Amino acid sequence: MSDRDTSMRETWETSFQEQVARQAYNTAPVEALVRNIAYYLRDRFTANERKNLHFAEMGCGAGPNLVWLAEKGIRVSGVDIAPTALALARATLDQHGFGNRVEKLVEASVSVVPLADESLDGILESCVFQHLGREDREAAFREVDRLTKPGGLFAGHMLERRHTVFQAHEDEQLAEDPGTLQLQEGGSNFYLTNIGLSHFFDAGELNGLLPGWSVVDPCLIQYELPRSEAQKRGYATYRQSMLAVYAIK
Ligand SMILES: C[S@@+](CC[C@H](N)C(=O)[O-])C[C@H]1O[C@@H](n2cnc3c(N)ncnc32)[C@H](O)[C@@H]1O
Repeated sequence: MSDRDTSMRETWETSFQEQVARQAYNTAPVEALVRNIAYYLRDRFTANERKNLHFAEMGCGAGPNLVWLAEKGIRVSGVDIAPTALALARATLDQHGFGNRVEKLVEASVSVVPLADESLDGILESCVFQHLGREDREAAFREVDRLTKPGGLFAGHMLERRHTVFQAHEDEQLAEDPGTLQLQEGGSNFYLTNIGLSHFFDAGELNGLLPGWSVVDPCLIQYELPRSEAQKRGYATYRQSMLAVYAIK
């Protein structure tokens, strides 16, 4: 592991341990992701054929998206840098009776994934690549390309530049990595303004990150937080702005 990965591991492991203590980790499949995967599966594979598919989630956390995939009959793998996240993913899959659908749960960085070339029918990620620096982010997308079979799917869910936090701090973007902010303002660990590095994608950027892939127009998902929640974060109004990416190799 690189020094950057070791430090990321420490940050996410601490965060997961806090989330476990507060019972605050995500246990629900991410709608924007699973909608795109459902669309991909619907016309291509029968229920029987799905049993031969192998999908992996990069940064799987406690595994709710893997459970959703296993419910569809798909074999699943999860990659995460935090051991506590992987232990939760294992327990969640077992609790749901899907232990037998699990191929691998591996502790690794999404920038260097110990899985074989073209071994996956689909890869998903939600809110993981957006917290990587440029070098690691580009490496993570190269891994997506390397690991996916021709015709396979990449479904992603990531921050977009019309987000309130990006709009408020646009003039602080890193010169060497446009779209990226480095914010550490204090307050809750769950707020973007205290999470350190965040990259806000723009739709056009994805063709460059997945060269040769067919990137279907990323769907923009925006919603306003309730005013009371916006005020807690120091804003009068607060717009979440995310891209749901659907790309075929
Ligand atoms: C915001 S959580 C999302 C979890 C999950 N995707 C979900 O939707 O519930 C980010 C996850 O990515 C993991 N992670 C962060 N950086 C990583 C990296 N460089 N390599 C592997 N996993 C990473 C964290 O440990 C955490 O589980």
